[in-house]
Amino acid sequence: MKSFDTDGAFTDNYKFLIGSILPRPIAVVSTLNEDGTNNLAPFSFFTAVSAKPMIIAFSPMIKSSTGTMKDTPRNIFREKEFVINILSESIVEKVNKTSMELPYGDDEFLFAGLTPIASEKIKARRMKESLIHFECIYRDHLSYGDQPGCGSIITGEVVKVHIAEEILEDGKIVTQKLRPIGRGVGNDYFRCTDVFELARLMKAQIQK
Ligand SMILES: Cc1cc2nc3c(=O)[nH]c(=O)nc-3n(C[C@H](O)[C@H](O)[C@H](O)COP(=O)(O)O)c2cc1C
Repeated sequence: MKSFDTDGAFTDNYKFLIGSILPRPIAVVSTLNEDGTNNLAPFSFFTAVSAKPMIIAFSPMIKSSTGTMKDTPRNIFREKEFVINILSESIVEKVNKTSMELPYGDDEFLFAGLTPIASEKIKARRMKESLIHFECIYRDHLSYGDQPGCGSIITGEVVKVHIAEEILEDGKIVTQKLRPIGRGVGNDYFRCTDVFELARLMKAQIQK
């Protein structure tokens, strides 16, 4: 087995992290810039944390190019709110474009040909093309340093959820209709087209 300590270059740790923890769901996070324009960026270090209160988390790292904070956390710390839009297959190419480092204040919705629409409870806008939107109020932040490669965790309390009717059946989201996309290592993405079911064994079933 290849074994290594983690005190070398951050890039070595990073490439094995993203090659090991996958497929990762993708949060497309929209925030407001200081002048009220929109910012949009994908984050695959992303997970659900709590059902009630409904909390979700994602992890922006310090920019490796400049050693500074990314625009998304900068906006969240000022505005205290953000929207997480879930990525589906039909928009992956456009969303991929929003990961480009544009100058602060440039609107990634416009740049990528995506459509901002008003949220109900917060000022940050939702992405019309996404089939699920979570309107979030900023809750907590943990930072693991201020050098390139250092990550952080931002959590948000979801105060409003929007789900497209077309992906619902009997009040549940149907994965094959959502067609979510996952992130892998390097430039890899995953389609969820090979879903299978496995019943979870409850204690009573195991003891039979
Ligand atoms: C699919 C995908 C997933 C990404 N996930 C992350 C992530 O989890 N954390 C991170 O810091 N950057 C991630 N990035 C890079 C950011 O999207 C990129 O740095 C972006 O420019 C940040 O935008 P901002 O400065 O407007 O916040 C990802 C990029 C792509 C294409």
